[in-house]
Amino acid sequence: MHGTQTIGKNGHLYIGGSDAVRLAEKFGTPLYVYDTALIKQKIRLFQEAFSRHSALNWQIAYASKAFSTLAMIQLAGDFGLSLDVVSGGELYTALKAGFPPERIHFHGNNKSADELARALDAKIGTVIVDNFSELSMLEQMCAARGQKIEILLRITPGVEAHTHEFIMTGHDDTKFGFNLDNGMAERAVFLALHSEHLILKGLHCHIGSQIFETEGFIRAIRALFSHMNEWEHHMHFRMKVLNVGGGFGIKYTSKDHPLPIGRFIDVIADTIEDECARHSLCIPEVWIEPGRSIVGEAGTTLYTLGSSKTIPGIREFISIDGGMTDNIRPALYQANYEAICANRADEPAEKKVTIAGKCCETGDVLIKDAFVPESCKMGDILAVFCTGAYGYSMASHYNRLPNPAVVFVEDGEASIVVRRETYEDLIRNDVPLRTFSSRQ
Ligand code: LLP
Repeated sequence: MHGTQTIGKNGHLYIGGSDAVRLAEKFGTPLYVYDTALIKQKIRLFQEAFSRHSALNWQIAYASKAFSTLAMIQLAGDFGLSLDVVSGGELYTALKAGFPPERIHFHGNNKSADELARALDAKIGTVIVDNFSELSMLEQMCAARGQKIEILLRITPGVEAHTHEFIMTGHDDTKFGFNLDNGMAERAVFLALHSEHLILKGLHCHIGSQIFETEGFIRAIRALFSHMNEWEHHMHFRMKVLNVGGGFGIKYTSKDHPLPIGRFIDVIADTIEDECARHSLCIPEVWIEPGRSIVGEAGTTLYTLGSSKTIPGIREFISIDGGMTDNIRPALYQANYEAICANRADEPAEKKVTIAGKCCETGDVLIKDAFVPESCKMGDILAVFCTGAYGYSMASHYNRLPNPAVVFVEDGEASIVVRRETYEDLIRNDVPLRTFSSRQ
């Protein structure tokens, strides 16, 4: 159980003071439920950790790819966060949510001219330039508009975080960023410094996701600093900002043992301060981009249990009314989750079952070994924990399943922040063939 989750006297799971079973009745299932008190607590943990490093200026940019909706962006804005967006759609959501443009950082390895134009129109704070094509396109666009923009360069420091292969981004063979070891990064710094319209504020790196150790951050920071004296000497490059990305690991299951958030921040801050002292450099402003660690544990998905199938000697499948459409992570990354029966949360959960989704795909299995009470049956509500990051944001319409609703809960109040899609929504953009005869 995470955050404000408790078991009520009626044996039901409560989240943010709301009975999960009532939420399922009122809003339907599948349902994404976010415990906003826990989101706020996570934000405060990052802020407090940085505040302990009084010599440091810092910014925490919420990586909105983890979960981007108007309400979430508003919450991030209200709590003083900056915002990492990676597409025109995430940028649009941020601007529609009234997020201060100067605190928006625009990422992405293939930003289109249209996306960059929107970012320039909105006068966002920083573009994190990923490659040479973008560097020249942005320079030309700014020149044509007579506009300047602050940029960071995304550097690939050649460091692998110990995590799932598909979500490693800091190693050398990656589509992201300017590689440090083969001279690309140096060339990018040179070009940016000589640009008339791009104001090079500093560097960015992101070494991976769901990271459980600090070593990767230390090595990436040291790798960047190992070039700083030379770049300052030869090119007069002063790094005013160092953005070390996100990736802080969270507790999906009892087998995960993430480091406290403060530990990551201490190590990052100490390493940067040490490197600056060692190379006699001014301490840059430190930026981070947590996504999962802000929203992941705060999200719970509620499902209704449906049909079951027992294969003697093999396993019992219980199917839910959602699956890989609302949570692709088990199928894509073999991610593990834990669940409880929300209307029998006080009963011992000793029966091992496999929770299957309803999609027409054998791999649509949400939890291979879940434990539920013996009495668990069709119509019960299953609560799957820790689904707040990359669940809603990676949802699909496979098999034409409508996307679930999202509710925020706190202090016994539940507010809908994304309405459930209807079947009508599913065909909203379909254009039918005009006449029957043209189809023959
Ligand atoms: N900054 C950059 C440049 C990133 O690429 C990412 C994640 C983040 C920050 C935020 O990372 P976080 O703190 O959320 O780990 N879909 C995958 C995760 C992909 C992460 C991509 N980049 C998953 O479900 O595990």
